[in-house]
Amino acid sequence: MNTLFDRIKIWTRLFLLRIARDIKTSINKDRSLRKSDNLFSKEIKIPVIFSLIPTIVIVYCMLIVDLGINYKTMISTAIFIIVSLVFFILQVQNKEKKIFEDNDAVVLVCLLFIIAILMLQISKEYVSAFLSPVAAFAFMTAILLSSKIGVLYAICLSLFAAFLNDMRFDVFLVMFCGSIVVVSNVKNIRKRADFINIGIKIAIANTTLTTMFYFFDFYKGMVQFRYNLFYGMLNGAFAIVILLVFIPLFEKVFSRTTNIKLIELSDFNNPLLKKLMLEAPGTYHHSIMTADIAEQAANVINENSLLARVGAYYHDIGKLKNPEYFIENQVTGRNPHDSLTPTMSRLILISHVKDGIVLARQNNIDNEIINIIEQHHGTTPMHVFYHRALEEGGDDDINIENFRYPGPKPTAKITAVVMMADSCEAACRSIEEPTATRIKNMVEKIINNKFIDGQFSECPITLKDLDAIRYSIISTIIGIYHARIEYE
Ligand SMILES: [Fe+2]
Ligand SMILES: [Fe+2]
Repeated sequence: MNTLFDRIKIWTRLFLLRIARDIKTSINKDRSLRKSDNLFSKEIKIPVIFSLIPTIVIVYCMLIVDLGINYKTMISTAIFIIVSLVFFILQVQNKEKKIFEDNDAVVLVCLLFIIAILMLQISKEYVSAFLSPVAAFAFMTAILLSSKIGVLYAICLSLFAAFLNDMRFDVFLVMFCGSIVVVSNVKNIRKRADFINIGIKIAIANTTLTTMFYFFDFYKGMVQFRYNLFYGMLNGAFAIVILLVFIPLFEKVFSRTTNIKLIELSDFNNPLLKKLMLEAPGTYHHSIMTADIAEQAANVINENSLLARVGAYYHDIGKLKNPEYFIENQVTGRNPHDSLTPTMSRLILISHVKDGIVLARQNNIDNEIINIIEQHHGTTPMHVFYHRALEEGGDDDINIENFRYPGPKPTAKITAVVMMADSCEAACRSIEEPTATRIKNMVEKIINNKFIDGQFSECPITLKDLDAIRYSIISTIIGIYHARIEYE
């Protein structure tokens, strides 16, 4: 007995130590990104297990309170939750494994689930099962996390809606079809006004399915049919309200970057972009060109091209602090670096990355864009100042490692894309008489050098991706310089 008790003690200790280590690791890992004073730009980091277990307990309690506390309900609800959970976890593991590494996303999945179940119960209890906002929550998950998670939510929530309503097949199918229709549309959402279309689509899907069930004699007469039809249509309007209220809230609290947020950030009336246009026009033009190149390149490797475009708009905003120190803004031909030591020049160049992060935080720019600003130079060396230092100093102490950007290197494919687009745009701009071959050679040289230098060692980019990106960048730049290109 004593041995068993000791073993339990050791297991409990190990379990608590593991949780403590998880918390410590997650705090250390993102400490650099959490220096902001803005409450909403801070991420919430809770270990996965802390989100999952309370969610299961809360949902279980909610269901048995609703269905009646007796041993039959308790056992059947437990089996239903376990089966749904196993299905959900296996599917996520299969299709969207990376979500388990994102603690914020897990918290969001759990929180949305609890709110959805609560709303399902309220709808069923006080109005109608057909008003259950399953489609709204499936769509919200799809836009805040991913379409695949949205589809899984649609399946699970439709099953829960049916479970709460005596396993009614009509409730399951109406909820499921309405959800799938809107989840498949998530990529077309570009502005908040598009939520109205989502509401209309839910109403049409619900009406069609309810009518089908009427003709299958599922309902007791016209009165029940009309009742279900009315609430099925009202479900669309209810979804619009839910989306308008919850999406902006979760975008902020959980730092989710949705396409809608990206479109808002890409507006050239945004104060930061306006300032860049007026105070650093060269950088502004370079950013727009980089955005065109990065967007196309992101497209060919199936990454979020809108994020690439918007990230490129903001990648050099740190140059706003000292615009005249960057070649693209030197219109008078005077180069302030001529009067500085290479070490000073190096510091000024490095500072545009740090200044960019500070400016972005002050302007509540999303973390995904901040990552692009922070990593767009990786640990690339500043060859110009290194060689100048060699010429001026001429001693052995000058090391290229001291003339590198401090990093970090790109950790996501999208950042690597912006990095390549940025360097290729700047380099091709310097070609005096651009030809297709010169552009091709320049782009290949830049991408190869970055690869050999290990700039992509921390991101999951493949050689196949690099080849597709190289091809895309060459054709986009040739397209941009089409008028200037001398044909060989
Ligand atoms: Fe830069
Ligand atoms: Fe740049």
